[in-house]
Amino acid sequence: MSSPVDQLAQAAVQPVTSGMVVGLGTGRAAARGIRALAARAAGEGLVLTCVATSAASETMARGLGLVVTDLRSVERVDYLFDGADEIDPGLAMIKGGGGAMTRERLVAHVCLASGGRCVYIADDSKLVRRLGERRLLPVEVLPMAASHVLARLDELGLKARVRATDTGAEFVTDNAGLVLDAQVPEEWSTRLRLAELADELKGLSGVIDHGLFLTEASEVIVEKATGGLLRLPR
Ligand code: A5P
Repeated sequence: MSSPVDQLAQAAVQPVTSGMVVGLGTGRAAARGIRALAARAAGEGLVLTCVATSAASETMARGLGLVVTDLRSVERVDYLFDGADEIDPGLAMIKGGGGAMTRERLVAHVCLASGGRCVYIADDSKLVRRLGERRLLPVEVLPMAASHVLARLDELGLKARVRATDTGAEFVTDNAGLVLDAQVPEEWSTRLRLAELADELKGLSGVIDHGLFLTEASEVIVEKATGGLLRLPR
């Protein structure tokens, strides 16, 4: 029996053409895109170079026969697809549920700087009125900076804690960083204040990156619970 068509994943990889450098996101939605991309590459004989936003996506893509290379060895990224944890009406997002936000932003920015498009895919449970409504904001830090950054977040009114794995160990990122998960109070969730918060976090010594993706999405494609897709271009 053939497997059902994954409309969301197919929409995510539909713009990919032979010769492109494709950025691969991280997480469950991105994994669906990676499977759809591998199927298209094999079925249509597409010649692609992929760059991954996490070790997990890299391993998965290689296992499916995609060519994955280091970001340092490409001059551009033509297209990126990735998932998101929360998406507000202005297409600002929280990312980093899987702790991959630093590499996710890096690949997205290389893509946008080379004139490419960054497309984010998610089901409609990820649509929120304001960022921080349901999810915590991840902040990746150098391990030795964790207490200092937690204290600064507290001063800013953001309650945060160090992310732990299911076994209670500290969660360690692909970059050997720790993740602080912070509650974003409602008063911080206007566009202006989110931009201020993003700047503040980036400026904090010991912070590697954070999960506020305010401007990266060229388009969001949403899988509706009632069936079908909703396309939200910026
Ligand atoms: C990885 O760190 C994240 O940014 C993911 O892209 C995000 O958490 C969405 O993941 P799911 O598609 O698994 O919900």
